[in-house]
Amino acid sequence: MISQLAESAAFFTSQGRGQVWPGQGLSEYYCEFSPKHYHDQLFGQYQVHCPPDMLRAVDKRKAGYLAGRYCAREALEAFELTHFVILNAPDRSPIWPNGLLGSISHSEDHAIAVIGDDRYLVGLGTDIEPIIGDDAMRETQSQVLNPEELHLLECSGLSRRQLFTVLFSVKESFFKAAYRLVRGFFGFDAVSIQALDHGKGEVTFCLNETLHERLRQGDELPGRFKMLRADTIATLVSLSR
Ligand SMILES: CC(C)(COP(=O)(O)OP(=O)(O)OC[C@H]1O[C@@H](n2cnc3c(N)ncnc32)[C@H](O)[C@@H]1OP(=O)(O)O)[C@@H](O)C(=O)NCCC(=O)NCCS
Repeated sequence: MISQLAESAAFFTSQGRGQVWPGQGLSEYYCEFSPKHYHDQLFGQYQVHCPPDMLRAVDKRKAGYLAGRYCAREALEAFELTHFVILNAPDRSPIWPNGLLGSISHSEDHAIAVIGDDRYLVGLGTDIEPIIGDDAMRETQSQVLNPEELHLLECSGLSRRQLFTVLFSVKESFFKAAYRLVRGFFGFDAVSIQALDHGKGEVTFCLNETLHERLRQGDELPGRFKMLRADTIATLVSLSR
């Protein structure tokens, strides 16, 4: 018992409210966790619902799911809805309580959930991404970036790999934010990142096609990015009403 309690304590190594995206008008919870300390009893201990099909997943997936849902539950506290169970729709997108919208991301040892009020927002997406390695960057670059975006990899202040990861991750965050409206898959060529301000952690991107009546070709939208650690970045896209 004592050793299990010690292991549980070791699962979350750091956690906090509103520390990644302060000042954005969102409820946010972030954590770092140790996947090697994962065990199935942690769902019960942290009172996070474990869907039956999750029980068949590998421990790495269960650890990320637990950490993401734990963050979501903590973020829902701002709306006094800590007992709301966030299930996934058949398309895998999370189902938020009426009146709210949000986004979850987890990497190997980080997780975040952000939640906003749908009176002010039509979409919200966040992503945590480890800095992509040189080989993966070479292999995916032509799929993720169009030729006009390549010059952004030369911006000062961050390495090419860090910048590539930011551009990739902003597009993933946009996908999550837009999915609520679009309700279908669209690829990385749907948007072009036009500018990146390293000092402010801001990007501007433009829609290359009309995805929805609220998301029209030529629209310019903002995104945010932040280095969480030297090897991990986070991005955020919130679509205002
Ligand atoms: C869905 C997707 C965005 C998930 O991103 P990821 O980096 O693999 O994983 P993350 O940990 O950041 O996010 C996973 C969470 O996203 C959420 N999610 C899954 N599908 C989603 C969707 N369609 N819309 C919004 N959120 C979704 C879920 O909460 C999931 O966590 P859970 O399964 O534990 O509930 C990604 O796999 C994908 O399919 N992307 C589509 C291609 C794309 O990004 N195009 C760019 C367009 S510009």
